[in-house]
Amino acid sequence: MPRPIIAPSVLASDFANLQREITMLNESEAHWIHVDIMDGMFVPNISMGLPVVEAIHRHAAKPLDVHLMIVQPERYVEAFRAAGAANISVHVEACPHLHRNLQQIKALGCRAGVAINPHTPVQGLADVIGDIDLVCVMSVNPGFGGQKFIEHTYRKVQMLKQLIVDAGASTLIEIDGGVNLQNARRLLDAGADVLVAGSFVFQAPDPKAVIRDLAAV
Ligand code: DX5
Ligand code: ZN
Repeated sequence: MPRPIIAPSVLASDFANLQREITMLNESEAHWIHVDIMDGMFVPNISMGLPVVEAIHRHAAKPLDVHLMIVQPERYVEAFRAAGAANISVHVEACPHLHRNLQQIKALGCRAGVAINPHTPVQGLADVIGDIDLVCVMSVNPGFGGQKFIEHTYRKVQMLKQLIVDAGASTLIEIDGGVNLQNARRLLDAGADVLVAGSFVFQAPDPKAVIRDLAAV
């Protein structure tokens, strides 16, 4: 059984000690560093912008997995690439021209990701699944860390996995929101490849131990 990719979300970290937090992630068994960008428009919250991503990138020894929760993401993907993003995920709900957006991200040399809100059916991705490197399945409504995991996600991941297999694609499935040691195994069994975890990691007394446990699930 392949091991999951673990992507701790720095949204839940101590922003006043960001360098220390990134150093901790560098020393941990985390594979990617998940960075949540919120614009106060697509989601009702504002998180961080380009200078903070640049600062994280200066210290990070692992790829930055940038999750854009913003309207018109095509205006910013190039800048996030320049700031150090390795993966860039845009929300399908913010992209009437998703196919074009995916090509734009790939042309920059990034992994192209598509995030989908809890109400968005996976079937809407069928015609572009071969162009998607990563689907970020939101298991909470985007905008805030620390929310309760939505149970329907298991079923959704199974359907998405089937869609990927049927298309002969190699798209990775990432789960974002409310991930913890209670739901991780079931998510992987349903077909997940990447687990994002924010508060479960950073609110733990020993974040590195939690990352190790998630990686070993
Ligand atoms: C939510 C973000 C998530 C968030 C996850 O809008 O996309 O990445 O940081 O945080 P937890 O793991 O606390 O739900
Ligand atoms: Zn996220």
